[in-house]
Amino acid sequence: MTIQAFIFDLDGVLTDTAEYHYQAWQRLADEEGIPFSREENDAMRGLARRDSLNVLLKGRVIDEATAQAWMVRKNDYYVALLSHISPNDLLPGVSDFLNAAKADGLKLGVGSASKNARPVLEKLNVLSLFDAVGDGYSVVHGKPAPDLFIWVAGRIGINPTQGVVFEDAAAGVQAAKRGGFFTVGLGDAAGDGATIKLAGLSGITPREILTRLP
Ligand code: BG6
Ligand code: MG
Repeated sequence: MTIQAFIFDLDGVLTDTAEYHYQAWQRLADEEGIPFSREENDAMRGLARRDSLNVLLKGRVIDEATAQAWMVRKNDYYVALLSHISPNDLLPGVSDFLNAAKADGLKLGVGSASKNARPVLEKLNVLSLFDAVGDGYSVVHGKPAPDLFIWVAGRIGINPTQGVVFEDAAAGVQAAKRGGFFTVGLGDAAGDGATIKLAGLSGITPREILTRLP
């Protein structure tokens, strides 16, 4: 079936906010005396805020009020790190890739677990390029469940088999595969499960992606 849409994860795919999520969790972990590392953070990529907290806790039990307070603190640290984001923070090749895909007639979507996705897309000045934006408010079951990408496909008006999902997270690649999409895994944290594996979006065109699909 002909590909009609590209659907992008945001954090770690369009911009390097994955690094800011890491720094915010690291600060919380340090303040609470919980061991945490960049490697452990890779397991959180793509996961909703609550699921990420569970990874951080590694089986520690905290009461619900504390959990809520910690998530607010992490988000406050994260939002502070976002304050300087501008279109210069699009990852290399992203701007050209999005514009070329649009010029080729593809529909564009975002499927991000983040409740901060819309403000980040606005700061990057790319929100208007997208035909549909699914974020941390769109579905109940987050990645690795396929619901978010299926929600975005529905908004765009395609079947999953007509879409390619771009992800930097293993949980996101899994979600897209479970939904029936083709997948492009970007970077090592995406794992080996994607249809196409790339370091990033620089030096490749949408047409080359299409020719490399099975
Ligand atoms: C994902 C990130 O895009 O969004 C995760 O990869 C993050 O690291 C998740 O936890 C939720 O983001 P937010 O902004 O709603 O806390
Ligand atoms: Mg990501």
